[in-house]
Amino acid sequence: MEAMAASLPEFLKKIKGRGQGFYEVLDDTKTADSIEVFAKKTSGRYEKIVVLGIGGSALGTKCLQQALLPLFKMRGNMAANVADKATTPAATMGPIPQLHVLDNIDPTLLRDLDATLDLKKTLFIVVSKSGDTIETLAQYFYFQKRVQEVGLKEADHFVFITDADKGLLREIAAKNPNIQTFEVPKNVGGRFSVLTPVSLVPAALMGLDIRQLLHGAQMMRDVFLNLDAEKNLCFQLAAIQYLLGQKGKTINVFMPYSSHLIGFTEWVTQLLAESIGKALNEKGERVNVGLTPLRAVGATDQHAQSQLFHEGPNDKLIVFFEIENFGEPLAIPNPYPDHPAVSFLKNATFDQLLKTEKQGTEQSLIECDRPNITIRLDCLDEASLGGLFMLFEGATAFLAEFYGINAFDQPGVERSKRLGREILKYI
Ligand code: PA5
Repeated sequence: MEAMAASLPEFLKKIKGRGQGFYEVLDDTKTADSIEVFAKKTSGRYEKIVVLGIGGSALGTKCLQQALLPLFKMRGNMAANVADKATTPAATMGPIPQLHVLDNIDPTLLRDLDATLDLKKTLFIVVSKSGDTIETLAQYFYFQKRVQEVGLKEADHFVFITDADKGLLREIAAKNPNIQTFEVPKNVGGRFSVLTPVSLVPAALMGLDIRQLLHGAQMMRDVFLNLDAEKNLCFQLAAIQYLLGQKGKTINVFMPYSSHLIGFTEWVTQLLAESIGKALNEKGERVNVGLTPLRAVGATDQHAQSQLFHEGPNDKLIVFFEIENFGEPLAIPNPYPDHPAVSFLKNATFDQLLKTEKQGTEQSLIECDRPNITIRLDCLDEASLGGLFMLFEGATAFLAEFYGINAFDQPGVERSKRLGREILKYI
């Protein structure tokens, strides 16, 4: 590990030299201002918000929605009850709309969602950095037609988040200047775009505090840019992933002990898979590297995948996520305090049970010689999520340098997009 630490300055220099803006966009206060203005302007106007997008254009929003749903609800109540005292964005907004993220083209999904929508009270946010992704365009065309059919104005029901000047979405926006648009910065790739308008716009419309999201990420950005390896968590995480990968632990299991972080595991799956799974290194040599992400959730997967993690092939690094504070403790009533099956419960709460189960799993994995690490969050809120996104974005950037590959391209995805378009010509 010490020998690896010496590479940190060189790796950071290389990352900076790649001209990627994922750690710089956090300072774009002008964009954050305009997003907040838009959120205030539309407050109370829509019952439902539907995000149309796929991959990096959807996963960050899904993650925020799932992780911070309890906050949406709590702040919704605060807004209703104590609007004059509360200071969160949600408290100064009207009722919080329901969010749907439509990140697939399964026709039943579209039909089912459509059947629940009152189009007059729905805002569609079309998110595509390229502006050309066929899945997203197909969804947009479908709902554009539906909005037109009922005689509504497109500009009242659609927002575009796309490149500043390229792609079909941008062309359409240029012809309909009344449609509100936000830009995806050119130097931020899809899977690194969660802290740009891609997810900040839906988050703000949900009443989330996007300043806190950015603030949490900025704090972690300082860590990412720290030249001291002992203080640079992003570098340390990447070094662990890389070293263990070299020792045959090529599967990274992401296992939060919280159902609210399942969306995060989907986001990090894409980040790791698309950034690190590469055929060629930077010298053009065939390397076919990658770490395979695997999603799990505690305690549920203790009763599903845990057996495999303990006794199956020793090819995994388990990354646990633990949350310190789940809010008001929830007691587990114990009507059978003397029964041996449950007597040990005593006056335990659900969060104590969850934490203890995680400790037990961690301990037994160590006994089985299965490597694992724990990432601990104080609580689930905007700042902690912002920090978590930045931690993994930074780590992924370092990981790519360890492998000598480019984390920011996706030639495989582009090849399949191209072939898909070719095949479509024949139907
Ligand atoms: O990380 C990426 O670049 C991809 O996963 C994209 O996010 C995904 O393909 C969607 O692309 P776009 O935002 O251009 O519609």
